[in-house]
Amino acid sequence: MSYIEKMFNLNNKVVIVTGACGQLGNKICEAFKNSESIVIGIDTNTENNKIDDVEYFINDITKKEDTQKLYESIIKKYERIDILINNAGVSTFENFEERPEESFDWVMDVNLKGTFLGIQTYVNLFDQYKSKQGSIINVGSIFGVVSPDFRNYTDLPRKNSEVYGATKAGVIQMTKYFAVHLAERNIRVNCVSPGGIFNPKNPQGEGFRENYAFRTPMKRMANDEEMIGAILYLASDAASYTTGQNVVIDGGLTAW
Ligand SMILES: NC(=O)c1ccc[n+]([C@@H]2O[C@H](COP(=O)([O-])OP(=O)(O)OC[C@H]3O[C@@H](n4cnc5c(N)ncnc54)[C@H](O)[C@@H]3O)[C@@H](O)[C@H]2O)c1
Repeated sequence: MSYIEKMFNLNNKVVIVTGACGQLGNKICEAFKNSESIVIGIDTNTENNKIDDVEYFINDITKKEDTQKLYESIIKKYERIDILINNAGVSTFENFEERPEESFDWVMDVNLKGTFLGIQTYVNLFDQYKSKQGSIINVGSIFGVVSPDFRNYTDLPRKNSEVYGATKAGVIQMTKYFAVHLAERNIRVNCVSPGGIFNPKNPQGEGFRENYAFRTPMKRMANDEEMIGAILYLASDAASYTTGQNVVIDGGLTAW
């Protein structure tokens, strides 16, 4: 095994990925599968966007008991969960003046409570794991760090919402909180915050992309694969002394 292979070795690691059948979740599952990990994908809808040899489960991360039962069954089978990727996330796009309370609550529930319940369940079962080290990676967003620039949204009706940004800021903060609390138990907790990711299946408007590119030092949106390197790094022993960090991957957008 080469030096680099040893450092980033994820062979046989048991990895849970939430939001596994979404755009980024699919790439994360593929990346861990290609790293010879045992990949478990969780989503509310597992019909599409699947990777061969990934074990998928339908589960709503906002449901505590269901999540506990699912994690317990995974531990029964594999005796550990080495890596938890809290990737599932949602947003709502009405103008804030018309935001229904239900939309606000839904985004809070999935992004914040869902992330919390995943971490809580993972940690409460940790004593049963054969391996005595863990890594949790939360997926935040640049909009947990800065506000969206509404001038960009000339032909995209999906203006990012205050509640989305607030939950992502919460996820970044929760990352630090749990990094501190779980350090003694040998569980590292980090966050990856993507900038706007181009979606080839449901492309953002051309005007939006041009405006976004103008606002970004690297002059383009991200591709989903560009999030993967940081996730694999944070999951692996190469990051054995890295915890509590938020890695912002945004082509420099938040640098000016
Ligand atoms: N796409 C971007 O530009 C972008 C930018 C910054 C951050 N992010 C973040 O990246 C993550 C993935 O986003 P994406 O672009 O792949 O979105 P996506 O909508 O393609 O995928 C999200 C997945 O989460 C699943 N999901 C939703 N609610 C769930 C629940 N309660 N329980 C389990 N699964 C649930 C959905 O079914 C979907 O498959 C999200 O946290 C998102 O906020 C995305």
